[in-house]
Amino acid sequence: MLRQTVNGRPFIYLDSAATAQKPEIVIDTIASFYREHYGTVHRAIYTTAAYATEIYQLTRSKIAKFLNASHENEIIYTRGTTSAINLVAHSFGKAFMKPQDVVLITEMEHHSNIVPWQIMAEERGATLKVVPFLESGELDMQALKKELATGRVKILAVTHISNVLGTLNPVKEICALAHASGAKVLIDGAQSAPHIPVDVQDIGADFFVFSGHKLVGPTGVGALYGKKELLDQMPPLEGGGDMIETVTFEKTTYNTVPLKFEAGTPMIAEVIGLHAALDFMLNIGMEKIERWEQELFDYLLPRMQEIPGLQVVGLAKARGALVTFMVDGVHPLDIATMLDLKGVAVRSGHLCAQPVMRHFHVTAMARASLAFYNNKQDIDSFIDALRDVVAKLK
Ligand code: ALA
Repeated sequence: MLRQTVNGRPFIYLDSAATAQKPEIVIDTIASFYREHYGTVHRAIYTTAAYATEIYQLTRSKIAKFLNASHENEIIYTRGTTSAINLVAHSFGKAFMKPQDVVLITEMEHHSNIVPWQIMAEERGATLKVVPFLESGELDMQALKKELATGRVKILAVTHISNVLGTLNPVKEICALAHASGAKVLIDGAQSAPHIPVDVQDIGADFFVFSGHKLVGPTGVGALYGKKELLDQMPPLEGGGDMIETVTFEKTTYNTVPLKFEAGTPMIAEVIGLHAALDFMLNIGMEKIERWEQELFDYLLPRMQEIPGLQVVGLAKARGALVTFMVDGVHPLDIATMLDLKGVAVRSGHLCAQPVMRHFHVTAMARASLAFYNNKQDIDSFIDALRDVVAKLK
């Protein structure tokens, strides 16, 4: 599924943390839906509409299985991680946040798990607080406990795996600590759901979000898992078709969860594509994916550390399969541009996490991120190219 060449040049794809390449089955499923089976959902009884509605619902239960949610009605379709976090921030904010309350996030969040909370806190007159990370790239658990001990934290939003540091946070322990202090927890699974098995019940998450496109599915679709008793109390944010029960000019009553949060004709083809993507991943098995990516990571990391002048950013003990790096005296953009000329795709820039850049007093870094479709030859080619580029640029 991973192309070996693009425009006749080699193609080594090491940017799966930004977005994943797609298997044929995902592309074919979407094309065949549009070509042969296209219809709407929830609104009609003809054959293609019935087919679309069935797969649309089946995907919800597939996501519930993927995350081990206790019921498919705890799964809400969203455009992706960002819109899922925005949904929770604003709806949870309206339902539960008071001016004296605190929203707690961490210093290692990407912008999607910062800005929605900032906007919500400002709207509700609440306070946004930030738990720092340590030089190892691990979360400062003492600082986290201290904030929770104030009893003012209403919701804590934390990434499962950092998209810059690679840190795998101890989310089960974090949820237990938060719950003991009366706080709810949102886990940002953008970088974990495509790479490790996730069990939202075991973790104890109140909310868990992920994007389909990082999980070999199409862009424009993702999911929010939320505990039913919370979702039931949260108001809808968007009004329109599907989210209603009865409409009059005087008063509208709302549908139940999950449709209460899914106004309008949804992203049908994207959901059907996500179904194919989840099947593809589940057929390989998330344990197997995690093992292979860790093997690749263990192969990659020491080879990068051997390159003179190269600094790896974040060295937590538990981590995902990505390496963010800087090279003394060389701009990350130059590294990424030169690597591209050699057919290697890595991400460069602020990595959608400007506060992490600020922590290290830089404005940009470069990052190589792995997926199950990479192999050791990809890493060998990358290391050869990187050595060459660093030698030329220094
Ligand atoms: N947060 C995504 C990344 O790390 C976009 O590239």
